[in-house]
Amino acid sequence: MENFAFLCFFLLCLVASVHCYVGQRFTSIAQVIREELSKERLSDTFPAVSGGFDTFSDSLPVYIGPQDGLKESDKIESLPGQPNGINFGQYSGYVTVDPNAGRALFYYFVESPENSSTKPLVLWLNGGPGCSSLGAGAMMELGPFRVDKGGNTLYRNEYAWNNEANVIFLESPAGVGFSYSNTTSDYNLSGDNRTASDSYTFLVNWLERFPEYKTRDFFITGESYAGHYVPQLAQLILHNNKYANQTVINLKGIAIGNAYIDSLTTVIGRVDYYWTHALTSDEIHKGIVLTCNFSLPLNISQSCEDYFNQLYDSVGNIYPYDIYAPSCNSSAASTSISAFDPCSEDYIFSYLNIPEVQKALHANVTSLPYPWETCSNQIHRWNDSPLTVLPIIRELMDSGILVWIYSGDTDGVIPVTSTRYSISKLGLSVKTAWYPWYTEGEVGGYVVEYQNLTFVTIRGSGHFVPSYQPARALTFFSSFLNGMLPPSN
Ligand SMILES: *[C@@H]1O[C@H](CO)[C@@H](O)[C@H](O)[C@H]1NC(C)=O
Ligand SMILES: *[C@@H]1O[C@H](CO)[C@@H](O)[C@H](O)[C@H]1NC(C)=O
Ligand SMILES: *[C@@H]1O[C@H](CO)[C@@H](O)[C@H](O)[C@H]1NC(C)=O
Ligand SMILES: *[C@@H]1O[C@H](CO)[C@@H](O)[C@H](O)[C@H]1NC(C)=O
Ligand SMILES: *[C@@H]1O[C@H](CO)[C@@H](O)[C@H](O)[C@H]1NC(C)=O
Ligand SMILES: *[C@@H]1O[C@H](CO)[C@@H](O)[C@H](O)[C@H]1NC(C)=O
Ligand SMILES: *[C@@H]1O[C@H](CO)[C@@H](O)[C@H](O)[C@H]1NC(C)=O
Ligand SMILES: *[C@@H]1O[C@H](CO)[C@@H](O)[C@H](O)[C@H]1NC(C)=O
Ligand SMILES: *[C@@H]1O[C@H](CO)[C@@H](O)[C@H](O)[C@H]1NC(C)=O
Ligand SMILES: *[C@@H]1O[C@H](CO)[C@@H](O)[C@H](O)[C@H]1NC(C)=O
Repeated sequence: MENFAFLCFFLLCLVASVHCYVGQRFTSIAQVIREELSKERLSDTFPAVSGGFDTFSDSLPVYIGPQDGLKESDKIESLPGQPNGINFGQYSGYVTVDPNAGRALFYYFVESPENSSTKPLVLWLNGGPGCSSLGAGAMMELGPFRVDKGGNTLYRNEYAWNNEANVIFLESPAGVGFSYSNTTSDYNLSGDNRTASDSYTFLVNWLERFPEYKTRDFFITGESYAGHYVPQLAQLILHNNKYANQTVINLKGIAIGNAYIDSLTTVIGRVDYYWTHALTSDEIHKGIVLTCNFSLPLNISQSCEDYFNQLYDSVGNIYPYDIYAPSCNSSAASTSISAFDPCSEDYIFSYLNIPEVQKALHANVTSLPYPWETCSNQIHRWNDSPLTVLPIIRELMDSGILVWIYSGDTDGVIPVTSTRYSISKLGLSVKTAWYPWYTEGEVGGYVVEYQNLTFVTIRGSGHFVPSYQPARALTFFSSFLNGMLPPSN
């Protein structure tokens, strides 16, 4: 079984040639950093001023398959173990994105209990790359249900994001969760580009299946490595919207949380975050500052690498996604929505592998020869991953859509310091100065509005923001959808 710590390794295993230290402890990340920042990668991807995606429109026209009757057959009657009185529509199933290869992506869609016909449409993407938006996003973070200890029953998440919007959770790319390809060599073609183009094809077909959503206000949200997926998909949509004969997707904005958007500032920000949060010594921090040269072209010295090894050792075996949180202990007492259960991932794994659950979800209809997993064991190559997506973010800012970047401030994987360094590279002017925002009578976090970009922190939250601070996350989400800064009192 996977552990979410896996995400962390995968995050740094961005290219095929990089050996992934799956299953090892947090401390071995250092060994990967040198590879991540290696010269070969830098030379062809950084600085990628163009963003590298100008050729996306070449993939037009996209495949559009027949969708008649599929909405009805995707309707979920009821999920095993769900509580009574469910007052919103649930759908799930497959959308074919390539009929020749036999490649299909799995989605789970929840409508809003009230006014779903006027509420916006939101796509949620988890990162990894290779992790499931159903297992993480829907079942652990912002979906309407959480899985009970034991893994057989569900309970309501009163802070679910479908209170405010109709939400699609997409397992992407093929090879993740229930999404698959009959041509398994497809998994070797995985990468940012393939992920974006398949997700776009998914959306166009999904909108044919659910035509009432075609003109609805549409937002894309996601976290972690989706700091790549979300801007890249948004860019592809905006480019393809220019073709008159192509489905126009009514994209209004993106929000990305604890997002991997710029490699160099992510690494430097992590080092500074560890030091300022008392997770490492003065000597190690100083050693890195003095021996590591992060200027381009990059040349990481042996002593720099040694200090990185010491850095990760000095942190110890804490849960990196939420530095102050307890680790999973299966004999400890169960908890509630507001006190996140660190063993949740185990319950979700059990639940989603129950045959009746898969049947109710219309999932795994081809009897895949491996279990459902939080993060994929099928994808072993990741072919393209630009070191920065800041040029794409800049393009999106210029396009007039909302661009919000948020950050749980106790995450040690993509810390708030990294995000601040990444944003500062854009050199933006401040429109609304930093202020504390409030929810439920307390400071929910802080916000600063730049020209065309809004930065929001969520106080006391780790990497998986809606898991750790559900009420604050929902206030943030609602503000974002309304295009209004979070409340100042
Ligand atoms: C991205 O993928 C599309 C379709 O798969 C392909 O046509 C295009 O050349 C790729 N672009 C890049 C930059 O790799
Ligand atoms: C994959 O193959 C199975 C078995 O032949 C078939 O039922 C299924 O429709 C195929 N999937 C796609 C997306 O074509
Ligand atoms: C639903 O829409 C109606 C009419 O616009 C409005 O009066 C009502 O407050 C809305 N309910 C919710 C929960 O948004
Ligand atoms: C994927 O690539 C690896 C390494 O090149 C190769 O060993 C493997 O056979 C490929 N898998 C498929 C299904 O083509
Ligand atoms: C759509 O428009 C593009 C560019 O104008 C053209 O290349 C393409 O063939 C058109 N596709 C269809 C299906 O008409
Ligand atoms: C840091 O690296 C850059 C680029 O390789 C180089 O020009 C510069 O001299 C280096 N600085 C030091 C202090 O070594
Ligand atoms: C990297 O730095 C080392 C030590 O400063 C130097 O010996 C080596 O030539 C540099 N490598 C490159 C490729 O610049
Ligand atoms: C797990 O929790 C139990 C009960 O609270 C405790 O006795 C045990 O020491 C804990 N185990 C670990 C590894 O923390
Ligand atoms: C799919 O179903 C088969 C049994 O038909 C099961 O062995 C396998 O674990 C399932 N795979 C996934 C990804 O759910
Ligand atoms: C903000 O967006 C407008 C268009 O919506 C654009 O003209 C302007 O250059 C953008 N400014 C920045 C700093 O991105």
